[in-house]
Order: sequence, then C-alpha cells, then structure tokens
Amino acid sequence: VCPIRPSSTQANPSSSLLCARCGTPSLNDRSWRCDSCGGPLDLETWSSPRAPWPSDGNGLTRFESWLPVSDLITLGEPTTALYEIPVPGVSQRVLLKLEAALPTGSFKDRGSAVVISWLRSRDFEHVVVDSSGNAGASLAAYGAKGGVRVDVFVPASSSPRKIAQIRAYGARVYPVEGSRADVADAALAAADEQRLYASHIWSPYFIAGTQTFAFEVLEQLGGVPDAVVMAIGAGSLLLGVNVGFASMQAAGLCDSTPQLFGVQADACAPVACAWESGSRQVATAELGDSIAEGLMIARPPRGEAVVRAVRESGGAIVQVDDATIAASVLWLASRGVYAEPTAAVAFAGLRTALKQSDLASDATIVVAVTGSGLKASETIEQLLGEKSR
Ligand SMILES: Cc1ncc(COP(=O)(O)O)c(C=O)c1O
Repeated sequence: VCPIRPSSTQANPSSSLLCARCGTPSLNDRSWRCDSCGGPLDLETWSSPRAPWPSDGNGLTRFESWLPVSDLITLGEPTTALYEIPVPGVSQRVLLKLEAALPTGSFKDRGSAVVISWLRSRDFEHVVVDSSGNAGASLAAYGAKGGVRVDVFVPASSSPRKIAQIRAYGARVYPVEGSRADVADAALAAADEQRLYASHIWSPYFIAGTQTFAFEVLEQLGGVPDAVVMAIGAGSLLLGVNVGFASMQAAGLCDSTPQLFGVQADACAPVACAWESGSRQVATAELGDSIAEGLMIARPPRGEAVVRAVRESGGAIVQVDDATIAASVLWLASRGVYAEPTAAVAFAGLRTALKQSDLASDATIVVAVTGSGLKASETIEQLLGEKSR
C-alpha cells in the first residue's frame, strides 16, 4: 500500500494521437483509426500525471484535470462501491467494484463521458456508433446531455431492455441481423460527412475515461490492489485500468501496479486463445452463442495491446463457459449483487484466474462487476427457469 501524495500542477495533457501499431501521428479529427496502416490510435499521453490529484468531490468530474478533455460532460456519476464479499474456496480478499451504480447502469459511462466531451469540444454534432447495447445506451445518454446526436447500430438479438434504454435517451437505433462484426460494418457504411463514425471500441478517448476505475480504486484502498480481474470484449476497461495505474505510478502516487487478469467467454475468446498459444498476435475467433452478449467481438482491434498489458503485469487471460457464467449470475444475486451475464464474467473467471496466478493467500483482488442485471432480466429469468427445472 502506498499513500496518495499531492503532486504539482498542470492540467489536461495535450491529446496527440499516434497509431498503436506503426507510430504514425494522426492529425485528422475524423480518423477513427490510423490513415496509414489501419491500426488503432492511442493518446500520446493518457492522463496528466503532473496535474494536482483531486482532493474532494465524487465521480468522474473530479478527475477532469487528469483526463484529456476540458468541461467534462457529467450525469452526476458516483464513485462506485468496492464491496467485500467472501468467496467459498478463495482465501484472498475479494472486492467487487459495482459499476451498475453509474448513471446508465454499466461501466461504459466512464468512457462515454470522455468521448462525448471530446466530440463536443470538436463541434461534432452527429455520430454513428456500433454496440452490443451498453455502450450505445451510455453514449446516447451522454449525447443527450451534451447535445450530440447518436445513431446506434446494435445486433438485432441485443437485450430488448438495452434497445429501449437507447431509444429512451432519444437516440436512433438500427438493429442489424448477423454478427457483432456485421453490426460494425453497417455502422461504418452509414457514416458520412454529417455523421462521424465514433465507435467506442476504437476510440482512445473511451480508454482515457476507463482509467477512472483505477483512480477510484487507488483512493478507496489507499493503495494498489494485488490484482484486478476484468472481462474482455474489446478490452477497453482492462486497457484503461492499465494506463490508469501506470499514470498514477508515473506521478509518484503509488510505487507498483496490479496484476491484470482478463476473462473471456468460451463462445468468443480470441484474446484468451492468443494468450494460451503464447502468440502476440490475436486471430479472428469463431463465434458461438453466449449469454455474455457484450463480449462477442471476434477480432478486438486492441487485442495485441491487451495481451501485452496482461503479460507485463504478471497476470493471465482465461476463459469460462456459459454454465459457469450463469452460475455466477445466480450466486452473485443470491448475495444481493444483481449483474447481467456479461457483467458476471470477471467473477466467473476468478477461480480459474487464481489457479494461474501466484497471488498470496492474503492478497487483495478487485473484481469488476460491470453492469446491472436489470439490463438483461429476460435472460436471467431464463436462467432461473433452467435452474428450477
Ligand atoms: C457489462 C459489460 N461488461 C464488460 C464488457 C466488455 O468491455 P470491453 O469491451 O471494454 O472489454 C461489456 C462490453 O460491452 C459490457 O457490456
């Protein structure tokens, strides 16, 4: 545990973009990926380690000086709880970070607040995005607040509650039959001069926002946890947590970073497969069916960065089957924690992750529970029905 020390002043770093693959700078605000090689874009500086650490306040706005945008659009986010829960067969201290308390019911609000704030700062008024549901709802909500129109392409099979939520915020929804990749292709095809393609999966501003998960954890624990366990779809939470702890270490706020553990669903596990085979490259996965609808990204654009971050942290990437995800949803709910299946995946992978780790029996582990069960009530009803049969 390292105490949080104040640091000197300089808010809001410059937000130059560089290709994560070939290093080419990106100078065009409309580019959602590298114009030279098609790689994902990174921020040269993810946060502002020289800005003063915020002394009080709640939620995301208090971290504004550490984020690459000014005038952060807010929906009054709380600091989400770290809730300790005894887990049978696990000796370590397990703390669930309960992200359902964010305004739209998932962790995506951390990224959306920054993406929409950046779009507004550049006078983009109309964007098109693709999403399995949660990011679409989140971007739509922050767009409603910030005056950015958001058109959301979703899989036709997305949870009806997520689709209703997106519509309720005033965004237009375009359901697409087919895979998550077909949804992304349809969104991209719809983008034009008026409608910027602003997918959260590609946006480095989204990752800049998910750093706030790490910022909050450091404060809540008064130090660095030994490990953080997260689900991986595109990997935006894991990458944000990685750069968030690195930024705080660079600022001298802490002297270590946690081991990172990623969990994927068997039905779509491209990053876990690369991890298992020892490959640095991530291949496109075969898609199966899964109740973890938020993780069905067959080729995450930042997959290689996820593998690298996990390797450098000393963690691991594991995969879980749907039966384990379903059992985790019901086990968590039996303890009062209502998570949608996608949001229960990190917890579902905890035991497998521990088998691959050298974590001491008194280690502190943060497990991200990334979204509310209310988002997927129909699926959870089915799980209850199957259990009682
Ligand atoms: C509830 C929930 N958890 C986790 C994820 C995965 O997040 P990421 O794509 O950042 O890996 C998603 C993605 O949609 C999600 O909706």
